[in-house]
Amino acid sequence: MSETTPGAPSGTIAQGGLVVGVLKEEWPRERRVAIVPDDVARLRGSGMSLVVEAGAGSAAWHSDDAYRSAGATVASREEVVERAGVVVTVRKPPPGVVSALRAGQAVLGLLQPLTDPDLARDLAERGVTALSLDGLPRTLSRAQTMDALTSQANIAGYKAAVLAADTFGRFFPLLITASGTSKPADVLVLGAGVAGLQAMGTARRLGAIVTGYDVRPATKAEVESVGAKFLAVGASPSAAGDGGYARELTADEQAAQQEELNAHIARRDVVISTAQVPGRRPPLLVTSTALGQMRPGTVVVDVAASALGGNVEGSVDGETIVTPEGVTIVGAGNLPAEVPGAASAAFSRNACALLAHVVQDGRLVVDLGDEIQAGVVVTHDGTVVHPAVAGLVGESHGGASR
Ligand code: NAI
Repeated sequence: MSETTPGAPSGTIAQGGLVVGVLKEEWPRERRVAIVPDDVARLRGSGMSLVVEAGAGSAAWHSDDAYRSAGATVASREEVVERAGVVVTVRKPPPGVVSALRAGQAVLGLLQPLTDPDLARDLAERGVTALSLDGLPRTLSRAQTMDALTSQANIAGYKAAVLAADTFGRFFPLLITASGTSKPADVLVLGAGVAGLQAMGTARRLGAIVTGYDVRPATKAEVESVGAKFLAVGASPSAAGDGGYARELTADEQAAQQEELNAHIARRDVVISTAQVPGRRPPLLVTSTALGQMRPGTVVVDVAASALGGNVEGSVDGETIVTPEGVTIVGAGNLPAEVPGAASAAFSRNACALLAHVVQDGRLVVDLGDEIQAGVVVTHDGTVVHPAVAGLVGESHGGASR
């Protein structure tokens, strides 16, 4: 167990409690803020003080005055980084912030260390303690209040269904009017994790007929519990991996799955794809062959769209493309940012719960023997301590981790 104080050797005790710094997110189209004013009092009550970058909450409708009224100090970015013991962000801190961090400081957020081990290496080299909410052991009941992946995926699934309904040029529900009857939309959701199940439930509530598909057989009951039909693909292998996640399919398994899926996709009005495999490029499930078979006016929302690629061939994160055949593909990899009020409030609760867990008597106390910390602490005391990340850092940089 070791205690962390900014700018001081590990093990010394902070004077005056931990300073929590909140930055304005820099990613394009990112509108969330990591800590909302409502949670400032909660952190102050636990002996922490808050310094918030000017404008940090404005895109989520939280003014600087709201932070001040809650008892936070509003300051420039440089001052926040200078004063903070722990910098809390939603997404990875930008390079300018990373290069200003000092030994003994900590950063907490969705740092994606499995797909960006270089960031972990940089933070370790700077002596910064990195806590990544992506690594939380999610099935542990005492970790559920900290589960930002779930809170954000839930919002992404809701927004995906609403976005699909908004983009689709016809109705989702069955409507019988004097001018005719409209059939309900036929929606297929690929991937039945948190986002997929929420997309299914929301599309059902909007009146669509919904089918769900996943490679983990355990999802069948969950799909049915939200009122959707489970799509059984004969060639589909059972691909349950560790920790409740899916494993990556082999090339042969993928090809067999794809052939059958193409026919199902071609029949649908709307496809919402949410399939992910931790630390890997999202599986390609909607190929150009399938897109070519879809009818004009149909809509595909790729919730898995990312810089690595998504579930849909040709989808671009943040862009809407209409194919020559008239299929609208929405690259929607960061939907929580489009629901910034709800997403920030939920993320802030999750971050506060993790802070409450790791901060004792106003100090960050790292204890890798604790199951939650073993999952979330990526770097500490100059070392990449998370084994999965350390392996990746070692692979790509000849052993930067110790
Ligand atoms: P995720 O975002 O990693 O993946 C989404 C879905 O895509 C998963 O259901 C996965 O099986 C599916 N998938 C992956 N490859 C696929 C392919 N080739 N074709 C079709 N589908 C594919 O998953 P998420 O939402 O993060 O959930 C992961 C697990 O964690 C789930 O088992 C979930 O139930 C569990 N979980 C448990 C919680 C708890 O116990 N409190 C809380 C949150 C999640």
